[in-house]
Amino acid sequence: TVADLKGMKQGRLRLAVITTAKYFIPRILGPFCRLYPGVNVSLQVTNHEGLLERMADNQDDLYILSRPPQGDDLQVKAFLDNPLVVVAPSNHPLAKESRISLDRLAQEPFILREQGSGTREVAQQLFKDHNLDVEVKLDLGSNEAIKQAIIGGLGLSVLSYHTLTSVGATQELTVLNVEGFPIHRQWHVVYPKGKQLSIVATTFLDYLLQESEHIAQDMQLPKLVTL
Ligand code: PGA
Repeated sequence: TVADLKGMKQGRLRLAVITTAKYFIPRILGPFCRLYPGVNVSLQVTNHEGLLERMADNQDDLYILSRPPQGDDLQVKAFLDNPLVVVAPSNHPLAKESRISLDRLAQEPFILREQGSGTREVAQQLFKDHNLDVEVKLDLGSNEAIKQAIIGGLGLSVLSYHTLTSVGATQELTVLNVEGFPIHRQWHVVYPKGKQLSIVATTFLDYLLQESEHIAQDMQLPKLVTL
């Protein structure tokens, strides 16, 4: 179209992302929208289960999640690390220790995300794989609320490292040095194979794959110590 020839891509981009990506995706939308001022965006943020439902209903152009469903009817591209870490209050006795065992960790009360959360599932699976029972003191439907509850002394949690970005960064939280952590994961961008993507969606997909590393470097995350 004439609009494309002028480099003026127009239209609405519909994205659905899991909660852990909400810290990152808006940062890439800023420069993208400056580059293409004719583009408007609708960004839905939901947990893993909610995202799968949106995908099944074909509600959005692109979906961003950590654990894409199996099956060969999806286009799946990995684009950025999304490690999970154990977060504690800075004044917690374990904060000074290194190589904390999972057994020791499991003696602490835990705050976990709600049912349907991918983060919750990974944390529960890890403890289950090691035959450990953890006390879930609190279920909370928000990463931000969990950070506050950790500060409040209700327990520890397994969270996406990206929840510790400079905005809302606080000296009151720390990442524990636990065996098996960080749990390595990646974000994937996904869409149905048969789907004809709009020009705007294709343009964003290319931009995401090209620029994400670079934009992630500006997030000013705390240094991640690997065991
Ligand atoms: P969620 O995010 O916990 O909000 O479902 C999931 C993930 O990172 O897998």
